[in-house]
Amino acid sequence: METIQTDVAKKAAGEKAVEFVKPGMIVGLGTGTTAYYAIVKLGEMIKEGLDIKAIPTSAGTLQLMHQYGIPQTTFAEVEKIAVTIDGADEVDLDFHMIKGGGGALMREKIVAQASEKVVIAVGENKLVRHLGKFPLPVEVVQFGYEQTQRLLAKLGGPAIIRGAAHAPYITENENYIIDLQLNHINNPIELENQLKSIAGVATTGLFINLANVVVVGREDGSTTIL
Ligand code: 5RP
Repeated sequence: METIQTDVAKKAAGEKAVEFVKPGMIVGLGTGTTAYYAIVKLGEMIKEGLDIKAIPTSAGTLQLMHQYGIPQTTFAEVEKIAVTIDGADEVDLDFHMIKGGGGALMREKIVAQASEKVVIAVGENKLVRHLGKFPLPVEVVQFGYEQTQRLLAKLGGPAIIRGAAHAPYITENENYIIDLQLNHINNPIELENQLKSIAGVATTGLFINLANVVVVGREDGSTTIL
């Protein structure tokens, strides 16, 4: 029952978020179950004549774009993305976020940083006062990951390699992910700087000052734009 209700909130948020997409735009498309609803809706709008091109943040999203008839472009062709629609794992009061639950954090961050506007669609359960209950994904290069893991573990909580110990999860960038269970991140900006100073860290799931609009969906199907 809970899953079904959560999906109603995600669907409402994802579908509302596409209202920020206008004809002729280059659009960034996020990854995950909330982004899925935005992609499906965009597919319907394209069938009705909307003319856009999109850059996907994962192979899964690219596959959905093919399925729903959304034309693709790449950073070889465009320098700026007008609007990106993505989900998040947690969003705080300053719109800082934890992302990467689905493992697409690197491409999501590259796309978000290239975007004039980032619209984040979430169910209301993703809004938090302080980030950190959701384990923070940190993408690390494979070389010396055990050492990177030791350094990450010194930041205040268990640092768990994603996947099985003998067969870690591998991202689309051939990296590993270490999930940092911090529970309460006091200063996300300071933490991001600390993480980035570790050589083996490829990118982090802390998205600082990247969201411009947050579309919140609720279990009754209503939405609020923050
Ligand atoms: C993937 C992400 C997703 O946006 C995040 O995990 C939220 O996913 P969902 O919309 O399925 O709850 O960052 O890397």
